[in-house]
Amino acid sequence: MNVSTRAELPSDAPATRRVHMAAFPGPDEADLVDALRRDPSWLAGLSVVAVDERQLVVGHALLTRLRVGEGQALALAPVAVAPEWQRKGVGRQLVRAALAAAEDAGERLVVVFGDPGYYGRFGFTPAWEHGVSGPFPVPAEYFQALPLPAYDGGPQGLCRYPEPFGAL
Ligand SMILES: CC(C)(COP(=O)(O)OP(=O)(O)OC[C@H]1O[C@@H](n2cnc3c(N)ncnc32)[C@H](O)[C@@H]1OP(=O)(O)O)[C@@H](O)C(=O)NCCC(=O)NCCS
Repeated sequence: MNVSTRAELPSDAPATRRVHMAAFPGPDEADLVDALRRDPSWLAGLSVVAVDERQLVVGHALLTRLRVGEGQALALAPVAVAPEWQRKGVGRQLVRAALAAAEDAGERLVVVFGDPGYYGRFGFTPAWEHGVSGPFPVPAEYFQALPLPAYDGGPQGLCRYPEPFGAL
């Protein structure tokens, strides 16, 4: 297996959509990604794809701009790996690459809503520990945050996700 990661190109969009359609039970995540592409929260370079040896897109991880209190952070969502490529470390490679890109961009904080067993291995811990609260009525441990090296104690407060997430 030889999978590498790189920033998504505009021409990857149809292949990225196919990955989400295959990885999730319905079109919600694929539609979300396409809506985010047209949203001001989209940040070029923070949409990362995994490609196989033939350069086919087999996974995608997305970071978009998120408001936290009076400041800003990044939301990691969604992450998807094509079913035939799952449990081979591609998801881990994607999340690491996305976090590295965020770090390179000087970002301070990434939040994610997801399984603590999965995201905990990247260093995410419950968001409330960082003074960050989520907009979703979910158990607190599912809403997590990861301070990056540029973290300076903020931002703190309530997260406001980009508008396309509201449709989920
Ligand atoms: C979740 C997902 C992105 C992980 O990608 P992946 O390439 O399969 O993951 P990796 O190979 O890097 O890591 C696999 C490890 O994560 C764990 N894992 C995989 N999916 C998980 C999940 N949904 N919840 C918790 N742990 C999970 C596995 O137990 C495995 O651990 P192990 O190696 O100790 O057995 C992928 O399985 C996927 O696309 N799933 C469907 C879409 C989805 O649920 N996305 C996440 C929400 S946005």
